[in-house]
Amino acid sequence: MEKKLKGKISSKTLLLIILVIAGCGQLKISTFYEKGAVVTASEAATEIGLDILKQGGNSFDAAVAVGFALAVVYPEGGNVGGGGFALLRSVETEKIYALDFREVAPAAATTNMYLTDSGEVIENLSTLGALSSGVPGTVAGLYEIWQKFGSLRWEKLVEPAAKLAENGFVVSESLHKSITKHKDDLSIFEETKKVFLRNDEPPQTGDSISFEDLATTLYAILENGADGFYTGITADKIVQTMEKYGGLITKKDLADYKVQWREPVKFMFDSLEIYSMPPPSSGGLIVGQILKMIESYDLTNQNPDSPEFVHIFCEISKLAFADRSLHLGDPDFYNIPSAMLDSNYLNSRKLKINSNYAVPSEEILPGNFRVTESDATTHVSICDKDGNMIALTYTINSEYGSKLVVEGAGFLLNNEMDDFSVKPGVPNYFGLIGGEANKVEPNKKMLSSMSPTLIMEEGQPHLILGSRGGSKIITTIAQAIINKVRFNLRPEEIVAFPRFHHQWIPDKLYLEEESFGIDLKQELIKRGHNVTERSRYGGLNIIYIENGMMIPASDPRGDGSAAGF
Ligand code: GLY
Repeated sequence: MEKKLKGKISSKTLLLIILVIAGCGQLKISTFYEKGAVVTASEAATEIGLDILKQGGNSFDAAVAVGFALAVVYPEGGNVGGGGFALLRSVETEKIYALDFREVAPAAATTNMYLTDSGEVIENLSTLGALSSGVPGTVAGLYEIWQKFGSLRWEKLVEPAAKLAENGFVVSESLHKSITKHKDDLSIFEETKKVFLRNDEPPQTGDSISFEDLATTLYAILENGADGFYTGITADKIVQTMEKYGGLITKKDLADYKVQWREPVKFMFDSLEIYSMPPPSSGGLIVGQILKMIESYDLTNQNPDSPEFVHIFCEISKLAFADRSLHLGDPDFYNIPSAMLDSNYLNSRKLKINSNYAVPSEEILPGNFRVTESDATTHVSICDKDGNMIALTYTINSEYGSKLVVEGAGFLLNNEMDDFSVKPGVPNYFGLIGGEANKVEPNKKMLSSMSPTLIMEEGQPHLILGSRGGSKIITTIAQAIINKVRFNLRPEEIVAFPRFHHQWIPDKLYLEEESFGIDLKQELIKRGHNVTERSRYGGLNIIYIENGMMIPASDPRGDGSAAGF
């Protein structure tokens, strides 16, 4: 069933959204669905997810099929060579779960592995090639989701992706543009060039492209489950590529890889229960800090782009990102303060804020407890007719990850090792800094910003959301929740709304270019902000649920695709 969304968009918001859409593609008007909804970064993947739901599969089956499909049709971010996180709500158990399938540092990794003997960071070592890869977690994660919550046969979920890779699919305009933009990087390794370029040229929009080696890998996974990736011929190929290019991942690292179920970060914002990803993602706690610090502000006379609100949001984000730099890392290696969302602590942090003037970042320190555009992350939101919900965000870190395809296996390896703090105080790819908590250690997980989030209202599904965008995922999610809860924007407005971001260091307030009026920029400069315009970012994919009716909406900034039935 489909029903057009009714209601009014305020003229100011409409203008801003039209400006965003103008640079990004078509405005996708939201519709209501009652049997199921799927939002992904690719139309082909969304279709596969919907088809699984129509065959009687649940949200979790659909997410597994979509996860594999994105590895084929969205190779810059979709993956089998990366890792991620998922928040799941099961109607059967009436519980919300957080699954950690983040990559892990190989057993041979060392704290100073990216430094020279004199302690200087070696350029590109943590971002390019075999040494930048953590042990992948995606296949184990998707397999675990199916084992614990799936209802259809495993083969049914992997087959659509394997067939796409084997028989080919039509190259979208954005895939053509993406491969063209990264052509030089994709030519560094012969294995990668063979997969993505034809006679040294990117495939054109409308061409059919197939990935034979990736199809072989997917069929091995189809036949043998996660073992088809972590042992046997696929594992042999990964290790051969490591040996050829000086990487550290061994057969034992692969065989030892394990997913972890973790307790979701849970907090209230107004009357809503918010569940998000705990460490080793910083997402849930830092989104939580931002929302809890903003909760007491009266925003009734403000707009989502008024200078007062943007100023407060960014001042609060600075405080939260300062905490991220010192206090967060893999909880199995580092004691994370338990009071990060404590209201007394957050109230004391807020004393730093001046409502009229930006506090310079150098005057802000991480809190004292007594006790990161363009990136290759992608987010999937799915809800079925029973109310099973999944928010799944996975990544190979930067676009096309390490740029290294495993020879004969056809997939890109991640460069997630760069999400560790390779040297205290030295910014990573996303400009984020860190220290002891997030230093490289063997078998440790690198800190993430991914923030798959589920929101419930009085025990009923309300919102599923997540985004790409590195460090900017955190502010994208916090901004989206405030835009829904405090400014009453509708789903298609929430995903399109222009974005702003501050992550403490560098001391810059980023505004999406050509998206805000000159007044806002000038007002923020007057308040002492270092305003910097930057290209549009993020890929916010959401499903809003009201009385069992689902409204999916995809970010107009990319190839996003929202559908339902
Ligand atoms: N690689 C980006 C993140 O995990 O935050």
